[in-house]
Amino acid sequence: MSNVIPLSQPDITESEIAAVVGTLRSGRLSIGPQADAFERLVAERAGRPFGVAVNSGTSGLFLSLIALGIGPGDEVITPAFSFVASANCVLHAGATPVFVDCDPRTLNMSLAEVERAFTPRTKAVIGVEVFGNPADMPELASLCARHEVPLVEDACEGLGGMLKGEPIGHFGRMAVFGFFPNKQITTGEGGMIVTHDDRLAALCRSLRNQGRPLQPEPSSGSPVPFESPGLGSWLEHERMGFNFRLPEINAALGVAQMRRLDQILDARQRVADGYFRRLGGNPDLILPTIPPDTLMSWFVYVIRLSDRYTAADRDEIIAGLRRHDIGASNYFPPIPLLPFYRRAYGYVPGDFPVAERVSERTIALPFHNRLTEREQDLICQTLEVMMQRMTFSRD
Ligand SMILES: Cc1ncc(COP(=O)(O)O)c(C=O)c1O
Repeated sequence: MSNVIPLSQPDITESEIAAVVGTLRSGRLSIGPQADAFERLVAERAGRPFGVAVNSGTSGLFLSLIALGIGPGDEVITPAFSFVASANCVLHAGATPVFVDCDPRTLNMSLAEVERAFTPRTKAVIGVEVFGNPADMPELASLCARHEVPLVEDACEGLGGMLKGEPIGHFGRMAVFGFFPNKQITTGEGGMIVTHDDRLAALCRSLRNQGRPLQPEPSSGSPVPFESPGLGSWLEHERMGFNFRLPEINAALGVAQMRRLDQILDARQRVADGYFRRLGGNPDLILPTIPPDTLMSWFVYVIRLSDRYTAADRDEIIAGLRRHDIGASNYFPPIPLLPFYRRAYGYVPGDFPVAERVSERTIALPFHNRLTEREQDLICQTLEVMMQRMTFSRD
């Protein structure tokens, strides 16, 4: 058996395997009851009446912008510190991303910077719960409401989290979850749009399904998937759509995972607590800042080195952890400084000082439900040895 401690790992049990096999045996592999059930479970968790399952978080974000009518000439405010898809969806829609720097404590967008970024061309704001942290989301929603611009919540990292009793996925006019295997729950690949707006939900259903006629209600129960009255004709295309459907096999996996969501989130909280306990006293580490009244849905556990360490030190520490078979990574490079954003918009280092400083010193530690106490001891001891080695070689 390998001794490698992976950075992340999905939690798949016999119930997930049985669900997938059952769906394979059913013969219904697309547009069916599993996707409908998955939609209901995720929407309910986000406190929303409608869920629209799609084949990735990125497709969900893109579809949300298209459904909101965003296109060329429009600006969309989006974080500099996030996963690249939070901005790429704006480019895919033909609009212009306007990047905003992050708050150094929560790592979510700085509200003051969001306020400054509005122009008459702003048509939406993408608010990300970075690493699953819902900090400032109610305030961001109020700010958007004041400017009469929709908030699209990129909730890809936050399923199941809550702030002051409000679930992640409930702050934006639309919200999008992601189910890549490093997420809290997985469908292999997949995503979900949730909203309270029946018109937007119906439009997203049509757009994900090649622009076939709008379906106000999910398609469950129809015995023939491709020619049922609820779907309209298979060859009727009212608008230019996409194929962003989530296959039934993936949806079945999602249903089984959703049934265990609370158990999974509890396990992840235990692992996060284990890191807080072990690393809490180290003055050279900045641990995640969780606002009061927050129920975290832990996506990753990302620590930051103090300013005593450089980006090169951080890279050396990550390399050292990996040499000891401990999965670790930086998380994330600022989006505007990625090569194609630099080329397109001319961004240079220094444009997003907080995101840059943070991103130079982050280390994502191994984080998954089954991480043991012994493994956490080993990870934290190795980390501290690597950190000491860096300062020792310099001082
Ligand atoms: C913040 C954020 N947005 C969007 C995505 C994209 O999701 P997907 O990989 O399912 O397309 C992710 C997932 O990696 C993410 O972390």
